[in-house]
Order: sequence, then C-alpha cells, then structure tokens
Amino acid sequence: MDRAQRIIECETFRNHLQANLAAERGRMFCRHDLAHFLDVARIAVIMAGEEEIQVQRELLYAAALLHDIGRHRQYEQGTPHEQASAEIAGVILNQCGFTEKETGVITDAIRSHRDPSAAGESSLRGLLYRADKASRLCFACEARDACNWKEERKNRELLY
Ligand SMILES: [Fe+2]
Ligand SMILES: [Fe+2]
Repeated sequence: MDRAQRIIECETFRNHLQANLAAERGRMFCRHDLAHFLDVARIAVIMAGEEEIQVQRELLYAAALLHDIGRHRQYEQGTPHEQASAEIAGVILNQCGFTEKETGVITDAIRSHRDPSAAGESSLRGLLYRADKASRLCFACEARDACNWKEERKNRELLY
C-alpha cells in the first residue's frame, strides 16, 4: 500500500482535495472528500473479496482515492468530473510511482465511474462503479428528498 500512501501525501492530491472542500462548503448533498474516497476504497476491497475478482489492493485504492479528485472543476468550469479526475489522476499517478500501464487501467476506471455499462464488469472498472454507488448513505441522508438521484438508484438500506 506504499503507493496509495504516497497519493495521500502527494501535494497535487492535497491541493485538489482542498479545492473540492472549498467548492462544496455548505453543500447539503454527498461530498467528494477523503471520507468518501476511503469509503469507496474499502467497499471495493470487500466486493473484490466477495466476488473473487483479482485486483491489486493498491490499484483499488488509487482508483478510489482519485475518482472524484477533479470534482471542483465541474463546479468551476462545467467539465464532467470523471474527465477532470482522470486527467488529474494521470499526473498524480505518475508522481506516485505507478507505471504507464497501471495508470491506463486506473484512469480508464475513473473515466467510466458514471457509465452504467461498466456496472456489471468483473474488473477494476466494475468494482469502482459499484463501490461508489454502494457508498452513498441515502438511507440516513437528510437531503434525500431534495436529491436529484432517481428514487430507485438510492441506497434504501445498509449494504456495507
Ligand atoms: Fe463521481
Ligand atoms: Fe464518488
């Protein structure tokens, strides 16, 4: 997990995390902060075990830590955040010792994390998609009624 730790300590990562925090100050809906990233990472690890999908834990953490890192650009410039996050992730992964091949796999998963066609895959892409959705605390959320997620997509009960 050395390289996942390196991401957490990486200055570029921290700067973008701060920008997300600033952009979402006062937001009543789900935030895109370190707590969300780690929820997704840990759920992805559990799911990989349950579904017997072989993916290195470091890659799961890297994808989860970076999948929403560019969220602030969606607020600032209207860039879809999966695109912004994949771009920023490329820079951070390079700084943190990931190979070009690994970076390709991780940024591909990030780019697909809002694409329902990735949902059923037994791969990093599928795990990231499913863990991200499963991480949401809709069943205990005060903003539930005002949230624009479709009712059937909300998590009605505790899964992980
Ligand atoms: Fe996202
Ligand atoms: Fe997310």
